[in-house]
Amino acid sequence: MNVLLTGGCGYIGSHVAVVLMSAGHEAVLVDNLSNSHQTIVDKVAEIVGRSPAFYQGDVGEVAFVRNIIRRHRIDAVIHLAGFKSVGESVQQPLMYYQNNVCGALGLLQAMEAESISNIVFSSSATIYGDPQYLPVNEAHPKHVINAYGRSKLHIEDMLRDICISRPSLGAVCLRYFNPVGAHQSGLIGDHPRGIPNNLMPYVVQVACGEREFLNVFGADYPTPDGTGVRDYIHVMDLAEGHMAALKYLSSNSGWHAFNLGTGRGYSVLEMIRAFERQSGRTVPYRLVARREGDVACSYADVQAATFELNWKATRSLEDMCSSSWLFQSRLSTE
Ligand code: WQD
Repeated sequence: MNVLLTGGCGYIGSHVAVVLMSAGHEAVLVDNLSNSHQTIVDKVAEIVGRSPAFYQGDVGEVAFVRNIIRRHRIDAVIHLAGFKSVGESVQQPLMYYQNNVCGALGLLQAMEAESISNIVFSSSATIYGDPQYLPVNEAHPKHVINAYGRSKLHIEDMLRDICISRPSLGAVCLRYFNPVGAHQSGLIGDHPRGIPNNLMPYVVQVACGEREFLNVFGADYPTPDGTGVRDYIHVMDLAEGHMAALKYLSSNSGWHAFNLGTGRGYSVLEMIRAFERQSGRTVPYRLVARREGDVACSYADVQAATFELNWKATRSLEDMCSSSWLFQSRLSTE
C-alpha cells in the first residue's frame, strides 16, 4: 500500500514510517516541521534501507495534499500531524483549533476529492478526562478539559459524520495512552523542542545531566506510592498498532475507535526506578505540588484492540527505558 503519513517526521510518525516501510509498504511523509526535524527522513532511510518521499507543508492545504495523493497513488492516510501540548492548548486554544481541527478538515476534503476511503487517526486517551472507572474502555464517557483534548474529540466526531455520509469510508481512531521509548537502533526517538512536558523525555535529560533534577508532580494521589499512574506503551508497539488498524480497514468500513495501551499502569516513582536500573544512572527528583489538570491514575482496557485488531503490546517497561536511554546516548554523540 502507498500510505500518506501526516506528521511523518514526528516522534510517533517516524516510528510508524519504519514499521510501514519494513513491512513493504510505501510511506509518503508530510510534515510542516513545526515540532520535528527533516533529518528524521534520513534516519528512517538508514533504518529501512530506502528513503520515504517527504513534503514540507500543511496538511490543511487541500490542493497541496491532492497533488501528493495523485502523484503517489495514495491508498490510505494515517493522520498524526497536530499540536499536542495540553498546557499550550489551554493558553492558545484558537491556535489548536486552527492547526488541529482545520488541518484535519482540509485533509479530509482532499481525501474526499481524490476518493481516498481509508484513514487511521491519532487520537488520545485525554478525551476520557479523569477516569470514572478503570481500566478505561472505549465506551468510557468523554470529558475533555482542554483545547488539545477537545480538538481530538472534534476530529473523531468529524470522522464519525463523514462515515455516515459515505458508507464506503473506513476510519479508525487510535486512542493513545502514554507513548514512550524508541526504535531499537537508537536512531529515532522522542526529541521534543525546548523543555519536555512529558515524563520520559524529562527523565532522560536528567539522567544525562542536561537537567539537574526531575519535579515529581504530586505525591499525595490515591495510588500505591502517591505518585501518578499511567499506561506507558512502547512507541514500536504503538506503531505496530497503526499497521494493524490499516489491515483492519482492508476488510471493515465505518467508524471505529480503539485504545492503544498495555492495560497496566506504572507510577512515576516506578518509572524512575526502572529507568535508573536500565541506564545505570541516578535520576535526582523532588516531590512537588500536583500539576494542574493531571489525573491520579489512568490505564487502558485493551480487549477491543486485541480482539478486533489482532494486536497486543509486547514490549516491557524495561524495553521502554533501555531504548529511550540508547536514543539519548546516540543523540549525545551527534
Ligand atoms: C505522566 C506522569 C505527571 C512530567 C500527556 C497528554 C496526553 C499524551 C501523553 C499526547 C503524570 C508526571 C510528568 C514531569 C512528572 N500526549 N510527570 N514530572 O500527562 O499522562 O499525558 O502526554 O497525546 O494527551 O495529556 O503524560 O508524561 O506529561 O505525565 O511528575 O516533569 O508523569 O504528573 O503523572 P500525561 P506526562
